[in-house]
Amino acid sequence: MTEALAYTDGAVHVRVPAKINLHLGIGPLREDGYHDLTTVFESISLYDELTATPVEDTLTLTIEGEGADTLPTDRRNLALLAAAELAAYAGIDAGAHLHLTKRIPIAGGLAGGSADAAAALIACNTLWDAGLTPAELDKLAAALGSDVPFCLHGGTALGTGRGEQLHPVLSMGTRHWVVATADGELSTPAVYREVDRLRALGDGEYHDNVDALLAAIRTSDPDAMATALHNDMQAAAVGLMPSLKDTLQAGIDEGALAALVSGSGPTCLFLARDERHAGVLAKRLTLRRVARAVHVAESPVGGAGVVG
Ligand code: C5P
Repeated sequence: MTEALAYTDGAVHVRVPAKINLHLGIGPLREDGYHDLTTVFESISLYDELTATPVEDTLTLTIEGEGADTLPTDRRNLALLAAAELAAYAGIDAGAHLHLTKRIPIAGGLAGGSADAAAALIACNTLWDAGLTPAELDKLAAALGSDVPFCLHGGTALGTGRGEQLHPVLSMGTRHWVVATADGELSTPAVYREVDRLRALGDGEYHDNVDALLAAIRTSDPDAMATALHNDMQAAAVGLMPSLKDTLQAGIDEGALAALVSGSGPTCLFLARDERHAGVLAKRLTLRRVARAVHVAESPVGGAGVVG
């Protein structure tokens, strides 16, 4: 978490990155409706921005950018809920107006909603001078969603439990990606249900060994990384959106070192050898018209932080 800065206009500006899963191992369904996970999270350089402005006593939200017209602006939006939960926890009755500029595709498997919640926690803690400790922010974050604690911290981390328990990972170097946004959305719970349905038919198993991946992250060798990337949700996501198979194959045909679905999808990730290779790959995938939008990005980057 980046240290807070004060602004003369009284507003606080926070930038927060999307997350990808270099490994996503899905365990059995638990009694509380969640699945145990073994996952390696990494923050990637696609960002949402949130500005919190002081107002008397109301909490309001406006949104511009990616998917803005389809997102709720009440407490069904995790950013506004996060602000409300922080105010309740800290006993604060001041208000805030939140303005979100969205670039992270929504319902894309990049934790955009969780990222916005993390941004709102950081912004409001600063705006209201609420003084919550990192441990208190983590606790509020975990209650808001399984990916929110990671979005606060960023970087690279091993996630266990339902994803909210984070363990440090030694990471070297920078990884280069092409990120292909699909035409359409996948609901995370629906993809989890599809994983369970396929497992009940004997299709797919829980991959919980991340040793090879952690070694690849330590050396930052792109070829080792390409072999070690894995997503237990991929078959379920492709089953629900069959066009993803063509998108993934197009990336391999055009020279990606590896292709995988991001989280619950439908965003697809293509690993490149270096920055130049990522640029070439992005151009080729754009020409193939297999995605709604194609971005070049790098990982890991830092988590939610106050910016100038
Ligand atoms: O934690 P979050 O609210 O982001 O999770 C959204 C949904 O994703 C949950 O309601 C659950 O259906 C599913 N989920 C799961 N196991 C996890 C995380 C999420 O089944 N570890």
